[in-house]
Amino acid sequence: MATAQLDSTVAPHVLLADVAAVLAAEGDIVRKCVQVLDHITRATGAGECSLWLVTPQGLVAAARAGTMSTPAVELAPLLEGGDAESGPLMVRRLASAGRRLGALVLRMEGGVPADVGTAFSAVANMLAPALGWAEQSRAFVAEADKRARQLEEERRLIHQVVDSLPVSLYVVDRDYRITVWNRKREAGSQGVSRDQALGKTLFEILHRAPAEKLRRELDEVFQSGRMQQFTMESRATGEPRSYRITKIPMQAADGEPFSHIITIGEDVTDTAATSERISRTEQLAVLGQLATGVMADVSPPLQSVSDAAETLVQSLDELARDGATVPDHATEAARTAVREVGRCRAMIGSLLDLSHTGDGERVAMDVGPVVEQALAVLRPLPAFATLTTQVFVDGGVPKVLGAHAQLRQVLIALLQNAAEAMDTQGTVTIRVRAGQAAHEAVIIEVIDEGRGIARGDLRHIFEPFYTTKGPGRGTGLGLSICHSIIARHNGRIEVDSAVGAGSTFRILLPGAPIP
Ligand SMILES: Nc1ncnc2c1ncn2[C@@H]1O[C@H](COP(=O)(O)OP(=O)(O)O)[C@@H](O)[C@H]1O
Ligand SMILES: [Mg+2]
Repeated sequence: MATAQLDSTVAPHVLLADVAAVLAAEGDIVRKCVQVLDHITRATGAGECSLWLVTPQGLVAAARAGTMSTPAVELAPLLEGGDAESGPLMVRRLASAGRRLGALVLRMEGGVPADVGTAFSAVANMLAPALGWAEQSRAFVAEADKRARQLEEERRLIHQVVDSLPVSLYVVDRDYRITVWNRKREAGSQGVSRDQALGKTLFEILHRAPAEKLRRELDEVFQSGRMQQFTMESRATGEPRSYRITKIPMQAADGEPFSHIITIGEDVTDTAATSERISRTEQLAVLGQLATGVMADVSPPLQSVSDAAETLVQSLDELARDGATVPDHATEAARTAVREVGRCRAMIGSLLDLSHTGDGERVAMDVGPVVEQALAVLRPLPAFATLTTQVFVDGGVPKVLGAHAQLRQVLIALLQNAAEAMDTQGTVTIRVRAGQAAHEAVIIEVIDEGRGIARGDLRHIFEPFYTTKGPGRGTGLGLSICHSIIARHNGRIEVDSAVGAGSTFRILLPGAPIP
C-alpha cells in the first residue's frame, strides 16, 4: 500500500494506480475508500474529501477525510443535476447500471485545480462500479443466505419427516453408498448409527445377507425400475419378528436413469398376527358348524350311553345294598363311564359355543356385576382359596350390549387361566374402565402375576386346542371360546405378557347404544 505523501502536482495516473491498488485489495470497500480519501486530501491539500452513500435514510456520509465538513443538505440539490461544481465544492455522482449509489465530494478552499479534478473524477469513475459490485454482491450474499437458509429448513424438514416415519428407511446411490439412514434404522434390528452408516457401502453395514445377494437385489430394482417387496423373519431383537421390506427405485426426474433406491422396513409382526387372528375367527366359525353337526349325530348315542351307565351304577348300588357281592372294579368302571361320558358332552358343549348357535339374548348391561358373578362362581374352588382377587370398577363406564352368560363364561375362562398361571399364589386384578373410542368404550382387564407367555407362544394361545397344560388338564379351548364370544360382541381381546412378569388380558367392547 502506498503511503508516500503525494502533492497536488503528482500526475493523475499515479493517484489512480494507488486507488486501483486500494480498491483491488480484499476487504470492505468503504474502509478502503477512507484510505483513498485520505490520500486525496493529503496529496492535494484539500480541506475535505468525503464519500456519501444513498441509503434508505437518505444521503449518508460513509467516509470522510480532512477537517471541514459538508452537510447533506448542501449536497442534495447539487446532486440532482448530476456532477456539479460550486465554488470550493466538487461533487461527482456515483452511479452504476443506472442506479444512484452516492457521491464523492471534494472541498478545497479556493477551488479545485484542473488536474486534481481529473484525478478526482477518475477515482469517482472507478469507485462507482466497485460500489455497484459491492452492493450487488451484498444482495447476492443476502439472497444466497436466504436460499441456504431455505434449503437448510427444507433439509431439516425432510430429515424430520424421514425420522418421524414409523418405518426404518435408508437410501443408497448407484455405487450402493448409503446417503440417507433414518432414526428408526439406527435403532432398528441391526442398530447402526447414522454417522457410521452414511457414506459407506451397504455391504459394509448390512450383514443380513451375503454382499452378492444384496447387490443382486439392488441391481434388479435399478434395472427393472420396479418396486420390490418381500417379508422376512428376523430374530435380531431377540424375539422372532416379521418385517416387510420394500425397495423403491428413485429417479431425479422423469426419463432419467434411476439414481437411488429407497429401502423401507416395516415391522409387520402385529399386523401379521391380526390377519392370522381374523382367519382364525373364520376357522372357528367352520369348527362351530362342524361341532353343531357332530353334536346332532353324537348327542343321542352319547345320551344313551350316559343313561345306560347311570342305570348300571344304580343297579350295581342296589345289588350291593341287597347283599349281593358286587366287585369293586365293576362299580368303579361304571362310574368312570358316567364321568367320561360327561366330559365328552361338556367338550362338545364347549365346541358348540364356538358356533353362532347358542347366542344368548343381548341386553344393555353393566360389566361390573358380571365380574362379580364370575368371581362368585370361582371363589369356592380350591384353586382360588389361596389367591387374592381385587376388582376395580371405574365410575361412568358405559353399558355394553351383551349376553350375560357368555360374558361371564369369558371372565371365568380368563380368571381360571390366571389362577393356573400363578400356581394359586398372588393377586389377580380385574379392572373395568372406560375406553377412548366408541367402538372400544368399555375395557375389562384381567391382570395376573403369573409366569407370563413367551412371545413365540402368544400367536398360538387363541388357537383351538392349543394348550401348554398337561394331558387331562387343559383343553386348549378356553381362549378360543373367549375370542369367538368377544368377536360376536363386536369387540376384541388383547394380551400384554412377558415371561416372568405376568399377563394382562384386555377385552375391548363397544358401548351399548343409548336408548
Ligand atoms: N394368564 C395366562 N398366563 C399364562 N399363560 C396363559 C394365560 N392364559 C392362557 N395362557 C396360555 O394359553 C394356553 C391356552 O389357554 P386356553 O385356551 O385357556 O387353554 P387351556 O387353559 O385349556 O390350556 C394355555 O395353555 C397357556 O399356555
Ligand atoms: Mg384355559
